[in-house]
Amino acid sequence: MSIILKNVNKIYKTGDIETYALKNISLEIKQGEFLVILGPSGSGKSTLLNVISGLDSPTSGEISYNDEIISNYDSKKLTKFRRDNLGFTFQQYNLLQNLTVRENIEIGAAIGKNPFNIDEIIQKVDIESEKDKYPYQLSGGQQQRVSIARSIAKNPNILFCDEPTGALDEATGKQVLDVLQKMNKEFKTTTVVITHNPNIALMADRVMKMNSGRIEEIVRNESKKNAFEINWG
Ligand SMILES: Nc1ncnc2c1ncn2[C@@H]1O[C@H](COP(=O)(O)OP(=O)(O)O)[C@@H](O)[C@H]1O
Ligand SMILES: [Mg+2]
Repeated sequence: MSIILKNVNKIYKTGDIETYALKNISLEIKQGEFLVILGPSGSGKSTLLNVISGLDSPTSGEISYNDEIISNYDSKKLTKFRRDNLGFTFQQYNLLQNLTVRENIEIGAAIGKNPFNIDEIIQKVDIESEKDKYPYQLSGGQQQRVSIARSIAKNPNILFCDEPTGALDEATGKQVLDVLQKMNKEFKTTTVVITHNPNIALMADRVMKMNSGRIEEIVRNESKKNAFEINWG
């Protein structure tokens, strides 16, 4: 699936204060692409991800997936669209604490129309020996890999990740990025990763730099770095 944004704006209104979080964003994300959205805190990255993925609606502008224009969907249609097509991973792992690793991933698979084999996914994210444990028995990096496994298990067309390594140290952060890179390569899942770490941008096909709600520039990487090759900074 490819995504097209045309002149997307987002204004938050809180009382009398208006915050222009997105200013005239136009962008195309191609099928199978690994896109990194890079920018300082407050530059609008999370707002952009929320608006692209239909978690929030734009103030103006158009968002379409292939031929479906989702920016005028009501919340019921949006929920169905997200469930059928999109996967999410956030900085917080959001695992269900009273379910095992395997059960958490099963829940992710259960909402998909064409889910992956659960054991294959468990193997891919390298948590086979943890599969019967509960989240509290895992390290942060392991929990984040379970979270990725859960979001990818339903075989989404697009995977959105907002600061997926934001709470992790270098070693576990790289393991998580390696999983994202492998999933993108092997399943051709279009992957959008938000980060404020410029080193992570070296893993992308393209890097979109944001500042103050605008696209500053879009850079294509001539060659991509492997997750374990990058410096953490
Ligand atoms: N729900 C909200 N209500 C009001 N302002 C918001 C809201 N969410 C984000 N903002 C503001 O929009 C701007 C962009 O925020 P955000 O998208 O979270 O940036 P980033 O993810 O790059 O740190 C900031 O000025 C932030 O304070
Ligand atoms: Mg953010």
